[in-house]
Amino acid sequence: MTQAAPSPRFSSAFAEAVHAGLSKRPQKELPSMYLYDEVGSALFEVITALPEYGVTRAEERVLKAHATDIVAALPGNVKVAELGSGSGRKTRRILEALCKKQPTAYYPIEISRTALQLCRRELGDIERISIVGYERDYLAGLSEVSARRNEGERLLVLFLGSTIGNFARLAATKFLQSIRSMLEPGDALLLGTDLIKPLPVLMAAYDDPIGVTAAFNLNLLARINRELQGDFPLDAFEHVARFNPDARSIEMHLRAKRPLTARVRDAGLHVDFREGETIWTESSHKYAAEEVAPIAIDAGFECTHQWRDDEWHFAESLLVAR
Ligand code: AVJ
Repeated sequence: MTQAAPSPRFSSAFAEAVHAGLSKRPQKELPSMYLYDEVGSALFEVITALPEYGVTRAEERVLKAHATDIVAALPGNVKVAELGSGSGRKTRRILEALCKKQPTAYYPIEISRTALQLCRRELGDIERISIVGYERDYLAGLSEVSARRNEGERLLVLFLGSTIGNFARLAATKFLQSIRSMLEPGDALLLGTDLIKPLPVLMAAYDDPIGVTAAFNLNLLARINRELQGDFPLDAFEHVARFNPDARSIEMHLRAKRPLTARVRDAGLHVDFREGETIWTESSHKYAAEEVAPIAIDAGFECTHQWRDDEWHFAESLLVAR
């Protein structure tokens, strides 16, 4: 999620991350944030429309059904900062309910300029809203927003869509602690988590029958080819989703179907793959509904409310900074 400054050896943070990740052993890996270039973000939007991927619809249902209760549970005089605005569609429910109560300032924080523009287009027509986008990584953006508020203003941070699931469990708690360190007591965090569900349902969500998720995953190699002068033969790799029972996560990998060598010119790389060797590209951790409250405590919050979708187990939790 955080972006390292590019070292002088490489032309970009992406080149640096590709170099570091593909040099790792025994498990090669690439940071999941790089899945979301223009093509990847568009493919993710398609994923959210797949019948097998219930996460986004579940969150939309929760936010739609409980927008009024959620807003009622918030502190008064609140400004809204969102980590990763995405398309802005589900945020609309909350913002509309808030704007009915008071004129509301909304600060989407996104590393993608395209996403910020989309979000402004999607939400700009809400009455009494003011939108100021921050093209930053999450924590840098949040610290700016938090520092710029006036006396007596509370902050509501939105971290929706189960993006927290991309972090390993310990790292997730640490990330929430970092968020907390930028907040004042009484500020709030609305956190979306996808919940543990039967394995076949989970697997289908990350390995859909028409191959959209496979394309989303493979696009990462295509992006390396496009942006870093790579020569990955895309037809020699396949998408793999597997459940890791210890981590309680779905892992996405790209598996080499035959032995091969790939070069990535702008990352100064020659990489060898054995047949069957994988690159680990993403993890989606799944939570039990009761797991959120103790994690909140560890991070300096109290979980005061939780709203759930029962059709596709998903939880929206309200964490208040202590
Ligand atoms: C956007 C991180 C929440 O982990 O479910 C969807 C990304 N990857 N299908 C998730 C994703 C494959 C998604 N998040």
